[in-house]
Amino acid sequence: MSSKIKKIGVLTSGGDSPGMNAAIRSVVRTCAYMEVDCVAIYRGYQGMIEGHFEPMNARSVNNIINKGGTILKSARCDDFRSKEGRKKAYDQLRAAGIDAFVVIGGDGSFTGAITFNAEFNFPVMGIPGTIDNDIFGTNYTLGFDTALNTVVDAIDKIRDTASSHNRLFFVEVMGRDVGHIALNAGVGAGAEEILIPEENLGLERLLESLKRSKASGKSSSIVIVAEGDKTGKNVFELKEYVEKHIPIYDVRVSVLGHMQRGGTPTCFDRVLASRMGVKAVEALLKGKTNLMVGIQNNKITLTEISEAIKGHTKIDKELIRVSDIMTV
Ligand code: F6P
Repeated sequence: MSSKIKKIGVLTSGGDSPGMNAAIRSVVRTCAYMEVDCVAIYRGYQGMIEGHFEPMNARSVNNIINKGGTILKSARCDDFRSKEGRKKAYDQLRAAGIDAFVVIGGDGSFTGAITFNAEFNFPVMGIPGTIDNDIFGTNYTLGFDTALNTVVDAIDKIRDTASSHNRLFFVEVMGRDVGHIALNAGVGAGAEEILIPEENLGLERLLESLKRSKASGKSSSIVIVAEGDKTGKNVFELKEYVEKHIPIYDVRVSVLGHMQRGGTPTCFDRVLASRMGVKAVEALLKGKTNLMVGIQNNKITLTEISEAIKGHTKIDKELIRVSDIMTV
């Protein structure tokens, strides 16, 4: 394939997610396969500004497909928000002979990429990597499936102790703005109630539901709370609220936190990352830019980054209904 692009940079940016390493591997190996040079850009846009680059070849990414985190490190970079910072980054890329880059990250990272393209006409391609699954233009982001499995595994363990002691647990999961982790893991782990940012079901309904579940003979319960839920109370305040209104409940809280972002990627995330990396490099070599690779109906797709960052992912109402039915 003859293309003007001879050297491609790859970086990870924003919050890390399992599967990022598999995507880096895929980008590097696709470059090797297509006989174009590949360069690692460390620490996201910060490393781009500082010229923290390293040539990569197919062997540089041995034994990383199974690793969580990102070997390239990640950062949220304020300097890249300024034109001056972006100009420094551009000068570094030019000096290193890099003709295009693939950024693996979330919407903040993508916004940086298209701003950069608009200013310097520099080809950019995005791969969605975040556990939150909140990027429009893809059914799945890298790391979401792994995070779900991590959360379900943790809740299965919490359920053991909840059941031994007849307790109610509030379990906080990640999701500042979206409830995809909470809702899917909630159904998968058999939660009693799921509180998400997209729907405020209200505290009254929570109390009603907990009373009903006690009356129906349940001795222990799990309530999953996305960190951005809209009840206006965090998990610790929810615990106090429930203890005050339904004193028979013995309540505990568990905040799962950043363990949700780590760990060995699932096979699903590894395969997805491998497919996305191939598509990202192929698209750049075909002269495409400002696109995000996604998966829709199990087909690898390309969406304008401008659309991906503007659009909103929707919560699956059917899952809410399924959850309601399961908690009869
Ligand atoms: O990766 C996405 C996310 O996990 C959000 O759900 C969470 O609110 C945020 O990142 C926290 O990230 P950090 O601690 O790195 O700022």
